[in-house]
Amino acid sequence: MFGIPIVQLRLLEKGVSIGTLLLVAVFLMGSYVYLELIDHEIVHPYKGLSDSGASTLAQNTPQKVSLSSCERNMSAASIQSFSSLPEHMQDYLYYQHCRHFPLLLDLPNKCGGADQSSEVFLLLVIKSGPENHERREMLRKTWAKERIQSGVWIRLIFLIGTTGSGFERKRLNKVVELEHSQYKDILQWDFTDTFCNLTLKQVIFLEWFERNCPKARFLLDGDDDVFVNTNNVVKYLQSLKDNDGSKHLFAGCQTGGGPSRDSWSKYFVPVQLYESNVYPPYCSGGGFIMSGYTASVIYNMSKSIPLIPIDDVYMGMCLKKAGLTTSLHGGVKTFGLHFPSERVDDYDPCFYKELLLVHRFLSEKTYFMWHSVNDPNLKCFGNDKK
Ligand SMILES: *[C@@H]1O[C@H](CO)[C@@H](O)[C@H](O)[C@H]1NC(C)=O
Ligand SMILES: *[C@@H]1O[C@H](CO)[C@@H](O)[C@H](O)[C@H]1NC(C)=O
Ligand SMILES: *[C@@H]1O[C@H](CO)[C@@H](O)[C@H](O)[C@H]1NC(C)=O
Repeated sequence: MFGIPIVQLRLLEKGVSIGTLLLVAVFLMGSYVYLELIDHEIVHPYKGLSDSGASTLAQNTPQKVSLSSCERNMSAASIQSFSSLPEHMQDYLYYQHCRHFPLLLDLPNKCGGADQSSEVFLLLVIKSGPENHERREMLRKTWAKERIQSGVWIRLIFLIGTTGSGFERKRLNKVVELEHSQYKDILQWDFTDTFCNLTLKQVIFLEWFERNCPKARFLLDGDDDVFVNTNNVVKYLQSLKDNDGSKHLFAGCQTGGGPSRDSWSKYFVPVQLYESNVYPPYCSGGGFIMSGYTASVIYNMSKSIPLIPIDDVYMGMCLKKAGLTTSLHGGVKTFGLHFPSERVDDYDPCFYKELLLVHRFLSEKTYFMWHSVNDPNLKCFGNDKK
């Protein structure tokens, strides 16, 4: 049993036809050991491919998927009160251990290679979904545009899974693939892109980061519906005493609290997944900033912490285990802004000029705000306020 998978991995290396591999795969399907092995090896098959290899990748995809699906953990069903949990939580427990999924679209050169990656000062890492094409288009045109700002590089990556089935799935994947070949800013993995899988998305990205961009200095991790004043973020990071990314930094909107035990809630986390009634300090996942060093610490800690479905809390758990904590940055407003009266214009650029990040912001407002806060004629002092 142990010999066969090794043979197959060698075949893979030699590029033997996918059809042959598939036959071998079917023969081996029952073996858990085999799946585990493949699980660890198959993640890298596209390593070294140039970005333009995307279309060849897509053609190979179906075979890779069947080779690397992750085995359901049947003993999860024996957890206390398992059958009383909502279906998506049962599903979560069955697949909680799965951390390796095929990379459908890769960007091995995003940071200029692992050794050159210190050239990247700020890596924007945006969690998006296959269906959010328009949001991505808007971000590329506004605050998330890849550029040199104040003498340093800003680079952009969208993290995407897969959704839908049949024709819809095909169509959505095609859109994502087209974007990937045009903009070279998409990482896509073959796992279902759901709210509960955001932690998986985060961890699988950190693994990618460790391999491809280990020296990038800072990361801004956010949703595709935030507004970020990236120019201010760069200024803020450049103003730090240690601005080479080698010291701990994890800044955002600080939160605490505990898990929701209401099974109807989007944020429901059953005791079977998280026992304590309090969460460690964490930064709301709408957006936060961390150093490359801290990203590496979190990745290392994550290896020994079982996944939970709330991604921002999970990051807090990893920090706590490393003896680190989050810090509050007044410019990060992941719960939106509060306005003193209804007569004030919520989208007056003067409210946003000095901020780093605000949740939540959609298309035309993002477009308006990015141009407004960067307008050299914008005046925001006292009564001059426009
Ligand atoms: C499967 O689930 C059981 C019960 O929760 C757990 O003890 C075990 O560690 C899980 N196995 C894996 C591979 O995660
Ligand atoms: C997470 O993704 C896996 C792999 O696609 C899928 O089996 C699972 O149902 C997803 N989990 C949830 C809770 O959506
Ligand atoms: C994380 O672990 C790797 C491998 O053990 C190690 O090389 C690296 O220094 C660790 N990162 C941090 C920030 O401790």
